[in-house]
Parts: sequence; structure tokens; C-alpha cells
Amino acid sequence: QAFFKPIQQTAPPSPTKRHTKVSVIGVGNVGMAIAQTILTQDLVDELALVDVNADKLRGEMLDLQHAAAFLPRTKIHASVDYAITAGSDLCIVTAGARQIAGESRLNLLQRNVSLFSRIVPPLAKYSPDSILLIVSNPVDILTYVAWKLSGFPSNRVLGSGTNLDSSRFRFLIADHLDVNAQDVQAYIVGEHGDSSVALWSSISVGGVPVLSFLEKQQIAYEKETLENIHKAVIDSAYEVISLKGYTSWAIGYSAASLARSILRNQRRIHPVSVLAKGFYGIEGGDVFLSLPAQLGRGGILGVTNVHLTDEEAQRLRDSAKTILEVQNQLGL
Ligand code: NAI
Ligand code: 2OP
Repeated sequence: QAFFKPIQQTAPPSPTKRHTKVSVIGVGNVGMAIAQTILTQDLVDELALVDVNADKLRGEMLDLQHAAAFLPRTKIHASVDYAITAGSDLCIVTAGARQIAGESRLNLLQRNVSLFSRIVPPLAKYSPDSILLIVSNPVDILTYVAWKLSGFPSNRVLGSGTNLDSSRFRFLIADHLDVNAQDVQAYIVGEHGDSSVALWSSISVGGVPVLSFLEKQQIAYEKETLENIHKAVIDSAYEVISLKGYTSWAIGYSAASLARSILRNQRRIHPVSVLAKGFYGIEGGDVFLSLPAQLGRGGILGVTNVHLTDEEAQRLRDSAKTILEVQNQLGL
């Protein structure tokens, strides 16, 4: 006996919406912040969670399912078995070791590379047409590792990269100028981490280029003030980790914004980690680092040709060199 008595169809059924599925690998602080932001923003029909810790996984799944009465309808399921991820549109990898206070992201490399050899091949097997979004650190090198292990074309493998650093940058500039961060256009590119590059020359607020505005108005600005803002961006994660042990909320929103642009084919521009060889004179090997890229249903649709000063371009190439030096030691 059906719960609902079916009513007779008087009109043809409306065309069904495309079913959207996202898998999140790793249900720690970061995976759960991303999962819950995706749920509250109604981005998916199905959310699959995977972790090696079966009890934590089931606990997190139940806790999210218990919010069903307050959320858009989404099928949430979880398993230690990757079969559950089959047919995903987007796989977000957050599994792995995180920094302890004072530790750099690059220190995590060896531990997380070996985990990736157990995570990426089954994801690629069960969702061969999906897009891989890597969040685990060091994110740029692990995005390269995921690209290699998956065999996917480079437009379907990206890292969350400096989308987060750019949000921190926009917050600090907005705070300094007392404006809304959403009106600040500003990019950090390069490594998500210590060698990131602030693109001062392209910052605008409400369409007004900030540096040339200050120059025209003959308002003195100290290069040191600008450098201090960038330094504060680099120090942000270290500060949060020393205070609360990990970062989670900002990366949750950052990754969900990438998921939205991809799944909803928004064609928005985000600074994300992409295969950067050949852009801005970056040579010397296959290196992933963040550049402003346009995202949509096909993954990375293109890389924006932003104007860089000679100094910014040189810093970007130095950032690429830093990543490559570490990456080359992996022998992949
Ligand atoms: P966490 O320790 O809270 O969670 C990690 C999770 O990974 C745990 O639940 C663990 O059981 C799981 N895990 C370990 N090995 C696994 C495997 N082989 N397969 C599936 N799951 C596995 O760590 P947290 O705070 O969630 O951080 C996760 C990662 O995200 C770290 O590498 C951290 O550095 C990185 N991160 C990256 C950010 C970015 O902007 N790219 C921002 C914040 C963190
Ligand atoms: C962050 O920037 C630790 O990569 C992490 O929050």
C-alpha cells in the first residue's frame, strides 16, 4: 500500500532536472565544513561521504541526515567503500594529515601523497567523467599527484588553491578601506601557501582601480602597508591553527563556491590551482598553481589573461619554482 494515493496525470510530467552528485572524501573538519555548506546552498541531489574511520563517518552522516527537516531534500549516504561514489559529477578530496601549529603545508607532502594512491584511482574508476577538486595540503602538489593518478585531462582536475587566500585578501583590503569585501576584486595567485603572489596592480573596488586611484589623488600609500596585508594573508592559516587547531569555515565556503560555479555552469572566475605550464612564462615542468580560471560544467574552461607587472610575473615564476623543487623529489 503506497503512502500517497497517486493522482491522475492531467498534464505530461515536467522535464526532470539533471541529478547532481558530489562525493566528499575525508569527513574531518574540512570535509564536513564543505559538506554542510554544499547542503545549505542546495547544490546537490546526492551527497556521498567516504572516510577510513567508519565510526566517525557514520556519526557524521547521521548528524547531517538528522537536519533533513531544515534542509533542501538531499540523499546523504556514507561508506568506507568507494563504490558509493559511483557516478559523481564532482569529487572533493579533503582526506589526509593536517598541519600542527607552526608546521608548513609542504611538511604534509609525504604522508598525503601515499594516501592519494589509495584515494584517487578508485574515484577515477567509479566516476570516470567527474571533476576532481583537491583540497588536502599541500594542495598544489597534491593536485598534480591527483592529475597523474587519475589519468584525467587537466581541465577536469583542479585544486582549491588561492581561492581561499584571495578571500582572506579581499577581507583584509575591505577592512582597511571600510568597504564590502564582495565589492573588492583582488587576486592572490601562485602557491596556496608561503610563496603566494598578491596581484596589487589589478585590485579594484567597485570598478575603481585602487593603485592608480591613489596615485591620481596623490594619496600617499606605503608599499609596506600593502606588503603587510599580503603578509597577514600568508599568516592567516598559521594564526587560526595556533588558536583553534585547524581551519574549516572559510575553506568550507571557498570550496562550496567552486562547487557552485562548476555544477551550475556559472562561468565565474576563481583563482584555483590549474596546470600552469606555459602561462606567464612558467616553464620547467608540469606544475599546478593558482591562476584566475573560468569554471563551469566542463571544469576549467580557460585561464584569464590578467595583466601582471614584471615583478608580479617574476614572483609567480619563483612560486612555480618553489613548488617544482619539492614536486621533483616525488619521482612521479
Ligand atoms: P582532519 O584530521 O580533521 O580530517 C582528515 C580526515 O581524513 C579524517 O577524518 C581521516 O579519517 C580521513 N582520512 C585519513 N586517511 C584517509 C584515507 N586514506 N581515505 C579517506 N579518508 C582518510 O583534517 P582537516 O582539518 O579536515 O584537514 C584535511 C586536509 O585539508 C589537510 O590536509 C589540511 O591541511 C587541508 N586543508 C586545506 C585547505 C586549503 O585551503 N586547501 C584549508 C584547510 C585545510
Ligand atoms: C588554510 O589556508 C591550512 O591550507 C589551510 O586554511
